[in-house]
Amino acid sequence: MAGMLAGKVALVTGAGGGIGRDFALAMAAQGAKVVVNDIGASVSGEGKDAGPAHKVVEEIKAQGGAALANTDSVAEWESANHIVRTALDAFGRIDCVVNNAGILRDRFFFNMSVEEWKAVIDVHLNGTFYVSRAAAPHFKSQGSGCYVNMTSTSGLIGNLGQANYSAAKLGIVGLSKSMALDMAKYKVRSNCIAPFAWSRMIGSIPTETEDQKARVEKLKSMHTAKIAPLAVYLASDAAAEVSGQIFGVRANELFLFSQHRPIRSVHRAGGWTPEAIAEQAIPALRAQFYPLERSQDVFSWDPI
Ligand code: NAI
Repeated sequence: MAGMLAGKVALVTGAGGGIGRDFALAMAAQGAKVVVNDIGASVSGEGKDAGPAHKVVEEIKAQGGAALANTDSVAEWESANHIVRTALDAFGRIDCVVNNAGILRDRFFFNMSVEEWKAVIDVHLNGTFYVSRAAAPHFKSQGSGCYVNMTSTSGLIGNLGQANYSAAKLGIVGLSKSMALDMAKYKVRSNCIAPFAWSRMIGSIPTETEDQKARVEKLKSMHTAKIAPLAVYLASDAAAEVSGQIFGVRANELFLFSQHRPIRSVHRAGGWTPEAIAEQAIPALRAQFYPLERSQDVFSWDPI
């Protein structure tokens, strides 16, 4: 099949539904052979169902594309290796890994259990490491490859009740940058996407008050399929010079996110005491302090 990804093999984790399903369909439509990985879990990561991954493979085949289902979990090293081996056994190579699988276990930090913390870190941060690491030797030896990693403004900016998820998603940003740096000399690229999309993952927002109902109606305009063109582009050779970046997509808006750099400094001959920090440094730095904002405070306008 001709297209921007002709001849390439893409592995999309969590591709049985939501954003990942649209990635798999769009990549196949652009000529990639796609491994559709999905454990078929609930939003909180419980249960298993081979149905969703197989259904997406059928959809791709019905469009004339090539795809294979895999239902291993990203959250363990052995099974993550098996996902990558599935791609190699079926299609003989691997060109793009999209780390998209995800779960939520929201809870205020002061009530969050160790199990809720670990479950979310395992799927998002550890899962991204395991699958990426399993593909790395193949990328290195072929001198090409790319990672597309899903992050979130819950990590980049902040959100209530998501300490596990925010930490995992910001961890993925650091991991993505490290992969970009460590593998640049092998022409391997790594980028992040922070999506905004109406999927089952944000379908649990309460709709009790009129305000909440209105907000959710707006969120429904953010279709999951709107995220896919950027992922296809990042996986293609057209993005050969694009690595180590963090993008955002919300309906018809595309964003490039900033990355941490010093924004102001103060210097004091002879060094600082705690008292001098209180009297001089903090008043000088305070103008640049960030307010305790959440994602929705920064993205304060309606999706376009
Ligand atoms: P979704 O819940 O529809 O899709 C996630 C998929 O991952 C599910 O099909 C699930 O079965 C699969 N999965 C869960 N655990 C797995 C495991 N251990 N191994 C393999 N597959 C597993 O959610 P959605 O919204 O499509 O999310 C996709 C990605 O985008 C996630 O990483 C999410 O954190 C991220 N994201 C989504 C946002 C949104 O607005 N929907 C906002 C910010 C980030």
